[in-house]
Amino acid sequence: MFHRHPSFSILLSAVLLSHLHSTQAADFCVADLTSRMTTTGYTCKNPTNVTADDFVFTTLVRGGNTTNINKAVAVPGFVQQFPGLNGLGLAVARADIEPGGAIPLHTHPAASEMIYVAEGSVTAGFISGAPSNVVYVKKLNKGEVMVFPRGLFHFQANTGEEHATVIASFSNSDPGVQVVSSALFGNDFSSFLVEKTTNIDEAEVKKLKALLGGSG
Ligand SMILES: *[C@@H]1O[C@H](CO)[C@@H](O)[C@H](O)[C@H]1NC(C)=O
Ligand SMILES: *[C@@H]1O[C@H](CO)[C@@H](O)[C@H](O)[C@H]1NC(C)=O
Repeated sequence: MFHRHPSFSILLSAVLLSHLHSTQAADFCVADLTSRMTTTGYTCKNPTNVTADDFVFTTLVRGGNTTNINKAVAVPGFVQQFPGLNGLGLAVARADIEPGGAIPLHTHPAASEMIYVAEGSVTAGFISGAPSNVVYVKKLNKGEVMVFPRGLFHFQANTGEEHATVIASFSNSDPGVQVVSSALFGNDFSSFLVEKTTNIDEAEVKKLKALLGGSG
């Protein structure tokens, strides 16, 4: 029986210990937010400087300011705000939506999303890719959950009469975000090209650019 050979036991212990050591070192890679983000994430913060706070995110205790044209606000807990997420394939966010407001149509190119209605109710949905462009929409009450597949346009509107709070989780620590209205009307994208590429008429493009702070 080989466990009776002391030299083998020592060797086995040494192998197990070194394995244990290497798995511990790879358990996590808290983002060093001062490093440059690459396609594989951030450089790891030195483990001796990692604390419990790197794995805790308290910003979502309160929602953001909903006094804006959407009557809604989303606060992200992505890797840029929450360094312990680096490499874990997870992120979180909180959205607050007043009655009549909406989180506008947007996409996260790198993540699927799951939402949980914590307060109030929302009408949420997403749109499948072309050519079918099917709209999957549902009114969600408090406690209900919906998923938005990766990369597809989605939204949440508060069609109820009370404040709504939604908690979202994501399948990537850096989901990315593109908001359709800001991408078209909140920048210096030439009005001529916006008209050409959307078939929206000039007057409406100018109106929306003024509303959303765009130029051009
Ligand atoms: C760890 O933190 C200390 C104190 O903030 C800092 O001086 C030191 O450079 C850090 N070490 C590494 C390796 O990041
Ligand atoms: C919310 O934003 C509005 C508009 O920018 C501002 O007037 C108001 O003071 C803000 N409220 C708080 C509590 O910060």
